[in-house]
Amino acid sequence: MIKSSLHELLPLNLSTGEPFYRQIYTRFRNAIADRLLKPGDRIPSARALAEELGVARGTIEAAYSLLSAEGYVETRGQAGTIVTLGLKPGLHAGPAQQEAAAPTARPRTAAAPVLHLPTPQPLPFQMGLPALDAFPRKLWSRLAARTIRATAHSDMTYPPYAGVAALRNEIATYLQLSRGVACTPEQVFVTSGYRETLQLITGALFKGGDKVWTEDPGYLPTANALAQAGVTPVPVPVDGEGIRVELGVQAAPRARAAIVTPAHQSPLCVSLSLQRRFALLDWAARANAWIVEDDYDGEYRYVGRPLPALQSLDRDGRVLYAGTFSKVLFPGIRLAYLVVPVSQIERFAAVSQTMFSGSPALTQSIVADFIADGHFARHVQRMRKLYGERRKIAAEGLDSLLGKYLRVDPQPGGMHLILRMRGRRSDKPLADAMRKDGMYAHTLSQRTVRHQTQPGLLLGFTNIDSAATMENLAQRMLKLVSS
Ligand SMILES: Cc1ncc(COP(=O)(O)O)c(C=O)c1O
Repeated sequence: MIKSSLHELLPLNLSTGEPFYRQIYTRFRNAIADRLLKPGDRIPSARALAEELGVARGTIEAAYSLLSAEGYVETRGQAGTIVTLGLKPGLHAGPAQQEAAAPTARPRTAAAPVLHLPTPQPLPFQMGLPALDAFPRKLWSRLAARTIRATAHSDMTYPPYAGVAALRNEIATYLQLSRGVACTPEQVFVTSGYRETLQLITGALFKGGDKVWTEDPGYLPTANALAQAGVTPVPVPVDGEGIRVELGVQAAPRARAAIVTPAHQSPLCVSLSLQRRFALLDWAARANAWIVEDDYDGEYRYVGRPLPALQSLDRDGRVLYAGTFSKVLFPGIRLAYLVVPVSQIERFAAVSQTMFSGSPALTQSIVADFIADGHFARHVQRMRKLYGERRKIAAEGLDSLLGKYLRVDPQPGGMHLILRMRGRRSDKPLADAMRKDGMYAHTLSQRTVRHQTQPGLLLGFTNIDSAATMENLAQRMLKLVSS
């Protein structure tokens, strides 16, 4: 058991009147029930835990003997005490139920609706992940080691709130050259991900009760984050040309902002047409509103060239451009960025100082070196080619085995395929069956808030590494769809 998880047990509650040994017993039992501690895991020695919690060793020993008497843990001589091997989750169903009312029991349900929980191992067809097998890990490790060796005292103090200067520089240059985003490093704010980007925008520009257009179908975390902050998301329908600006104007003409995914609409993958881009900019200028351009995977277009960002058409300083390293590097890195109009730099600097602590400087420096040394551009190019190939493999594999039941929607870019259901009204039964079979299956209906969308499955293809893998998955799906 690692020490950090020990801290989850702290502090003991003095006010409940429940004896300490009982509190410790309960916490271990809950940790085992929740599978934080698994069969075979070693639990700390009574001496170490007594020291950690500041209680007598006898208190811990009393808790451990109770756990042992009930079969939760077993002593293994020199090897210490472990969670009983072969312990079944059902064993603690009874006691855990009693525990629900106890003051020390931890809440087990998430407060906010979640779209999907991250899984430790990527599942087949998992959306939103880059090709994890194709990441240049050796090169990355070399760079990381170099950066760590070069760590100076100045790198060990608090990181700048808006991001490490070297990274802000590299991002500004990259965006200028590759995405047509005109910006200086001062306009770039580094965040720990898109959600933090949204919090920053909300803190700086919105107030409770404001209305903000969101795409429907769309990326639900956007609407959820707005609602959480007391801002009202207004779902605006999307068609083959992207968000229907005229319907947004009808629904909420004085909305404070529109949040859009112009390169590849999430999840329909369509690009916002030039006409709509101008219509949106025009509305924003008239309504004194902001546009947030979420360019989460703009690099990945397989037909023609990647489209320049909407921000590059902005003449009034109304567009905020949000990017992330989750798709072009990997999501575990937790780095994203926001480019704000020049007029807003000070306001955003003040809000980021108040609300955030800054992202880890070490990671930022590694990424800055990765970009500066040219690896980033090469990696994006290689991934674009690889995803083009994997997308073709996935589409052909699905079509050849499942063409009778499903049709692959043609899209110019993105990191997932949309499968339309032939002659079926709902995408849910197949998605449910796939999930049960250990695959990842997202549906268009799940991503729709108010307006009707044709049913469809959303399948990530970036980690499908060969035609054989695809055939195997398609066979599994065929069994489900034809049964
Ligand atoms: C539409 C959309 N925006 C933004 C993001 C990026 O989120 P993050 O930076 O938190 O990884 C994603 C990731 O899946 C996404 O699908």
